[in-house]
Amino acid sequence: MKEFLWGGATASYQCEGGFQEGNRVPSNWDRYLHENGLENGDVACDHYHRYEEDIRMMKEGGQNSYRFSIAWPRIISNRKGDVNEEGVAFYNRLIDTCLSYEIVPMVTIFHWDLPQYLEDESGWLNRKTCEAYTHYAKVCFERFGDRVKLWTTFNEPRYYTFSGYLIGNYPPGHQNLQETVTASYYMMLASAMTVKAYREGSYDGKIGIVHSFSPVYGVDMTVKTQIAMRYAENFYNNWILDVAAMGQIPGDLLDKLSDCCDLSMMLPEDLELMQRHTVDFIGLNYYARVMIKPYETGETTLIVNNKGSKEKGTSQTIVKDWFEQVRPKESRYTEWDTEIFPRGLYEGIRRCWKKYHLPIYITENGIGLYEDGAEEKIDDRERIEFMNQHINAVLNAKEEGCDVRGFYVWSPFDLYSWKNGTEKRYGLVAVDYENGLARKPKKSYEWYKEVIESKGNSIRREPYEEVSYGFTIN
Ligand code: BG6
Repeated sequence: MKEFLWGGATASYQCEGGFQEGNRVPSNWDRYLHENGLENGDVACDHYHRYEEDIRMMKEGGQNSYRFSIAWPRIISNRKGDVNEEGVAFYNRLIDTCLSYEIVPMVTIFHWDLPQYLEDESGWLNRKTCEAYTHYAKVCFERFGDRVKLWTTFNEPRYYTFSGYLIGNYPPGHQNLQETVTASYYMMLASAMTVKAYREGSYDGKIGIVHSFSPVYGVDMTVKTQIAMRYAENFYNNWILDVAAMGQIPGDLLDKLSDCCDLSMMLPEDLELMQRHTVDFIGLNYYARVMIKPYETGETTLIVNNKGSKEKGTSQTIVKDWFEQVRPKESRYTEWDTEIFPRGLYEGIRRCWKKYHLPIYITENGIGLYEDGAEEKIDDRERIEFMNQHINAVLNAKEEGCDVRGFYVWSPFDLYSWKNGTEKRYGLVAVDYENGLARKPKKSYEWYKEVIESKGNSIRREPYEEVSYGFTIN
């Protein structure tokens, strides 16, 4: 059996900076953040120039894989599809650096930075973006496929479309259910088109998708709750994972959506294409589960806390006529309202393995904290505890026979956290933004190294008792 991958994950916009270098064209995030006067990733942690140091530190920290994304605006210059050789050269250097340190690259083709020239033509609301995406992906396969053997089409299409088109806190900043459904559909279609292109090219590697995984739990075992759980599973998980892994949009989801949305963009030939071109593996980004109860009252409300402790406790999700999220009082939460619930990862992996029976990588897991990058050695024991509990969950699932092949911490070094800016820190290595972006390993960096070197044996193990809560109707 191949070696388990222990790595770190990043995304181009969140770490690279160099936003006007190497002939990179503007992205949707550049435009949106600049126009709204928000903290941006123009410089981020300057990975564009410091990737060698960052990858070397990953290697010295025991890591054997690096999950990163390619910036579409660095690779394809215009609507015609012209390739920017400077962008290709940058990723060639980055990939070669990984290989020189025996670090396996896992590449995300799209982690949310869309060229602005496509956003100007309605971005993911326009079917033509699927073709543009497939062309871009093929260029990546052709140029990097000799060395990259693990690809994922999209990072978190669900989180991206909900944030950009329903909640409205990411570009393009809309709040429109029809648009959410259209954009989601086109992203999943583009994913299948790209899986098809990958297979047709006979590349020597595997291709998957990365999902923002929120295993659904119910407040009780009543039938009403079980039905609400099914709606919630469709809302959070099934319309990505069922489509990517089984080639099917859940019928009851289509039925429900057809009451309120125009689904005429879903052509029979698309559905056939989706059915035939499913992924080789599943990437799960796990931050928290979601506990729900049946819908009671109120309009659809989706509030995300992007302000941390200033707005702690304000997050809320109600989907009218479907379900309401409940925040258990006895649980612990981060300053940004994310519930800390490691067991959800264990249970989620088991459900996923049982349902899809495809290899699983935990492509992101980590905790955002307030930290002072100027400190010489950050004592991030809270992160260490968080990681111990989550890796324990992964190992428990693995020991029960689930085919988990890797774990990637978000993130190997501090980076820009979308609407939360740089004050929300995730890294195992601190970036001192006030002092020339100096890199300083935190305690968790050494701790993770020990975990990897011991092949997980240094993890404090906690077995789980038999599951005693809810179930999902599939
Ligand atoms: C995932 C994304 O949703 O969560 C990352 O793939 C993101 O890009 C990470 O940074 C943490 O979320 P946030 O909003 O706290 O940065």
